[in-house]
Amino acid sequence: MKIGIDKIGFYAPHLYVDMNNLAVARNVEPEKFTIGIGQEKMAIAPITQDPVTLAANAALGMIDEQDKESIDFVIFGTESGIDHSKSAGVYVHRLLGLNPYARTIELKQACYGATAAIQMAKGHVALNPKSKVLVLASDIARYGLNTSGESTQGAGAVALLISADPKILALEDNSAYMTDDIMDFWRPIYSDKAFVDGKFSNEQYILFFQKVWEEYKSKSGLGLADFEAICFHLPYTKMGLKALRTILDQGSEEDQERLLANYKISTIYNKNVGNIYTGSLYLSLLSLLEKMEEMEEGSRIGLFSYGSGAVGEFFTGVLQPNYSSYLNMSQHEELFNSRTEVTVPEYEEIFEKTLPVDGSTIELDIDNDPAVICLSGVQDNMRLYVNKLK
Ligand code: HMG
Repeated sequence: MKIGIDKIGFYAPHLYVDMNNLAVARNVEPEKFTIGIGQEKMAIAPITQDPVTLAANAALGMIDEQDKESIDFVIFGTESGIDHSKSAGVYVHRLLGLNPYARTIELKQACYGATAAIQMAKGHVALNPKSKVLVLASDIARYGLNTSGESTQGAGAVALLISADPKILALEDNSAYMTDDIMDFWRPIYSDKAFVDGKFSNEQYILFFQKVWEEYKSKSGLGLADFEAICFHLPYTKMGLKALRTILDQGSEEDQERLLANYKISTIYNKNVGNIYTGSLYLSLLSLLEKMEEMEEGSRIGLFSYGSGAVGEFFTGVLQPNYSSYLNMSQHEELFNSRTEVTVPEYEEIFEKTLPVDGSTIELDIDNDPAVICLSGVQDNMRLYVNKLK
C-alpha cells in the first residue's frame, strides 16, 4: 500500500519586512542578508497570530468536509508551543470542526517535529488504511532584535494530509536517521527567544546531512542520479546549498546541474518567509512542487530534516500521477501577493508586543488581521480564538 502526502496547505502571516531594509537598519551590507544568508522577505506574526492560528489557517485552506470526517489523528509539530500541558492541536481540532473521534497530540524536537509526525502518521495509516492524519507544522522563529540570528527569523505553518493512495507524494520505506546530544540551538522554557551557537549549528547541520546521506545510500543502494531534487530544512536558504555542495561531486555533471537548479526552485517560498522551523522543509517541498514546471510521475525527491539538539533524517518520496492538479497554487500565490510590508521600526514594535503573563485580560483588535482564524485575546490565563467564518 502506498502512503504519503495527499494534500499540502500553507499559511504565513500577512506582514513582512524587506531584508534590504533590515540590513540598512542593522548597518550591514544588504548582500549579506540577500546573498550571504539568502533571504529576501521575513514574515512577521502580528500579536493576533500564534502557532495555533497559523496552523489552523494553513489547514483551513486545504481540507474539505470529507477530510474532516476521515481525519482520526492530529499531530501538531512545533517548538513554539503555547502550553506546557495542552496540545496546540486540540485548539486546531475545534477551530476546524474535526470529527471528535480523533487522537490529538503535540510533538517536539526542534525543527524535526513535523518529520517525526509524518513518520508516526505513516505507521498509523499502515495499520488503519482508511484513516487520514492531519500533520501540522507551525512555528514563530524568534532570536531577538539586533542579534546575529535576527535575519533568520520567520513565521508560518504547513499542513499535510497523510493518507493511503496519496495524490501528491508516496513516501518510500528507506530512511536514515540519527541523534546526538549537542547544544547548537535551544530555548529554555523560561525564554521566548532561542539561544544559538550559530557557527556550530551550521557545522552540525552539514555533518548530520553527510552522515544520514551516507547511511541512506548504504541502506538503499541509491545515489544522486536517482534523485530529481533534494529538499532541505531551510533555516535560511544558503544553508541547504552549503550542505548540498558537499556531496555534489558524487554525481555526474548532469546530476549536479539538475540538483542545483531544482534546489534553487525549492527555496523560492522560503526566501520570502524566513525560518518557520519545523515547517521549513515542507515549505521547501511545496516551493519545488508549485514553482517547478510539471515533474515526471515517478520522480524521486529526497528530504533532509534537521532539528537542532539534534536529530536528522534523510527520507524520500515519489511523485504521483497528475500531482500538480492537487496543489493549491492560486491560493498560495494570492497569499504571497496580498501581504503588507512593514518598516523596520514597525516590525520592532510588533516584535516587542507580547501577551500578558500575569493573568491579566487583554482584548486584541482582529479587524486589521485578514486571517480567518485569529487570536482575539487572553482571559483567565486562557487564549481565546475566533474563526471569523463561524
Ligand atoms: P552571522 O555571523 O551573522 O553571519 O551568522 P556570517 O558572518 O557567518 O555571514 C553569513 C554569510 O554571509 C557568510 O557566507 C558570509 O560570507 C556572507 P558563508 O561563508 O557562510 O557562505 N556575507 C556576504 N555575502 C555577500 N555579500 C556580503 C556579505 N557579507 C557577509 N556583503 C548565522 C549567520 C546563520 C550563523 C546566524 O544568522 C545564526 O546564528 N542564525 C540562527 C542559527 C541557524 O540558522 N543555524 C542553521 C543551522 S541549525 C538549524 O537549521 C536548526 C534551526 O532551524 C533550529 C531548529 O532546529 O529548531 C536553526
